[in-house]
Amino acid sequence: MSDELRAKSRGQGASDNVHPFDLKEAFQSGAQKGAGEGVVQEELSLRPQRLKEYIGQKQVVDSLSIAILAAKKRQEPLDHIIFQGPPGLGKTTLANIVAKEMEVRIHHATGPALEKGGDLVSILTSLERGDIFFIDEIHRLPKIVEELLCPAMEDFAMDIIFDKGANARTYRSRLEWFTLVGATTRSGLLSRPLRERFGIVRELDFYTIDEIALIIKRSAAILKVAIDDEGAYEISRRSRGTPRVANHLLKRVRDYSQVKADGRIDGDVAQKALGLEGVDSDGLTILDRKFLEAIVTYYKGGPAGIEAIAATLQEDSGTLEELVEPFLLQRGYLIRTSSGRRATEKAYSHLKITPPKNLPQPQQRSLV
Ligand code: ADE
Repeated sequence: MSDELRAKSRGQGASDNVHPFDLKEAFQSGAQKGAGEGVVQEELSLRPQRLKEYIGQKQVVDSLSIAILAAKKRQEPLDHIIFQGPPGLGKTTLANIVAKEMEVRIHHATGPALEKGGDLVSILTSLERGDIFFIDEIHRLPKIVEELLCPAMEDFAMDIIFDKGANARTYRSRLEWFTLVGATTRSGLLSRPLRERFGIVRELDFYTIDEIALIIKRSAAILKVAIDDEGAYEISRRSRGTPRVANHLLKRVRDYSQVKADGRIDGDVAQKALGLEGVDSDGLTILDRKFLEAIVTYYKGGPAGIEAIAATLQEDSGTLEELVEPFLLQRGYLIRTSSGRRATEKAYSHLKITPPKNLPQPQQRSLV
């Protein structure tokens, strides 16, 4: 990356002596960071516990509610469910809600942590009828585990092989009728056999400005912090349509309001606090702007491949694909073509750089 680019990305929005809002950090849960119990509790308590408390994703919530009522009426476990979509939109929250609504236990795991077949066997054999087995990042499940999981989902049985060669014996272990709930940020990486075993497939989309403002007001009420409409909308506009980001920003604005104001959040307090966080008026973070600036200044607007952009920024390409790109694409700052990523007129205008002629226009629909 050029010195000029580095200097620019430092200069916009954040001053050097404050810690700018770090998207990657915001996306790590308190539990993963080893935070104290209180922090984890606060994190969890902001999440809705029931479908009726859930704001947004109306189609997903309506269809889940029908599936849950019907399964309860039949006194049967639910079909296997997969939630797809960018991080922070509520996939884990929905899995927990489904368990609560079905009045069953939920067992949590993540794809990469299930390293061996034995890890899966010990969980599956401990499940009772109707229990939910939740696998986050299911696209990162090792192949060997996936090959055991597919028949278990279909037949509720597992063939376990003992010994090797001539002594090999197979033992069929029967399982209780469980529900697998999977979550993935990269649905394209799921194998076809696994994908086909989910009866309910739901895509979560970015939330609207109004929905995020409502979520912020709900969270502020739980945290017992006063906020007016202007304050809620100011935070909402900068939350990338993502409840997890909104709740993180709300807490930063709460800190600011308690130190620099009277503890109440209004539009002015929110604006000042979020300026310090390096989040600009459209919700773009320093990393978003570095990403766009790399394409505009280094690759002359594109097309540029994701690996090349990642190398320029010295970032992991997976992080850029999962955390940065979906929002920039959805808001029309970026388009993806067969030859790579291209910056749009909106990106140039946001960066206050004069665009070349004949720039491509975004195809993605707008949020608001
Ligand atoms: N907190 C985080 N996500 C939420 C949602 N979708 N509805 C209500 N509160 C939330």
